[in-house]
Amino acid sequence: MGKLDGKIAWVTGAGSGIGEAAALALAEEGATVILTGRRREPLEDVARRIGDRAHVQPADLTVSAQVQKVGDYIRKTFNRLDILINNAGVNILERHWANLTPEGIDTLVHGNLSSALYCITVALPFMRAQQDGLIIHTASMAGRFIGGLSGPIYVAAKHGIVAMSHGLNMEECVNGIRSTVFLPGEVATPILDKRPNPVSAEERARMVQPADCGDLIRYIATMPKHVVINEVHLSPTWNRSYVAALRSKL
Ligand SMILES: NC(=O)c1ccc[n+]([C@@H]2O[C@H](COP(=O)([O-])OP(=O)(O)OC[C@H]3O[C@@H](n4cnc5c(N)ncnc54)[C@H](OP(=O)(O)O)[C@@H]3O)[C@@H](O)[C@H]2O)c1
Repeated sequence: MGKLDGKIAWVTGAGSGIGEAAALALAEEGATVILTGRRREPLEDVARRIGDRAHVQPADLTVSAQVQKVGDYIRKTFNRLDILINNAGVNILERHWANLTPEGIDTLVHGNLSSALYCITVALPFMRAQQDGLIIHTASMAGRFIGGLSGPIYVAAKHGIVAMSHGLNMEECVNGIRSTVFLPGEVATPILDKRPNPVSAEERARMVQPADCGDLIRYIATMPKHVVINEVHLSPTWNRSYVAALRSKL
């Protein structure tokens, strides 16, 4: 028997990386999972590995009407939502002011911030009615610390996610709703392919792995409802920014 038997969980960015690992971990613990991303094929692949308790619902989360459609499906099919893993996000190659375009800015702001906010507006009515619900947002270390690697707009959008998650607890705690913001350091996922400087296989092997994130998300999701983990950081032991700083002292 799993600790999440009977729970309905919606995972965004579920076709790859952290979202895929979260979907697999929550399903292993007994949850029914709704899998969202833009591309159907990777979602179907994750669903095949989960079985009957997986429901594929592709959507571009930067389009609020498409987010609402997933909400309509959840209402019609389950009429409840216990967990939202608000995880989808993007980065782009042309991420620095020297080469940013208005289109790039829109991709980063809508793809990391607006999309996450739209998903919350769909989740909250279910959770308020239930007086119970958990939302886990994947922000980033870039949402707490200002560094150069991720680019200034990604950093700004992820700071927005961190701030918003704390604000959610401030307003919705009286409705039994809990919000956790998850701040990973470098995780070996396909998003690294969008780095201006390619990341080697050896470097990826030393990073946090998606399954580490899935395990953490499973742990947070199985905490009792009278406690909330407000914010959690997870970094590779071999932290490349620390190592670079140490080496520059030599
Ligand atoms: N990997 C890291 O080092 C790292 C560090 C800190 C934070 N993060 C954050 O972790 C989260 C997950 O990323 P990841 O590392 O697992 O990389 P990933 O494998 O690239 O996952 C991102 C997922 O988001 C989905 N997605 C992107 N835009 C979307 C949209 N508009 N609508 C619906 N789905 C969308 C993508 O699927 P489709 O392309 O099919 O839509 C993809 O499955 C992101 O929020 C990212 O910013 C990652």
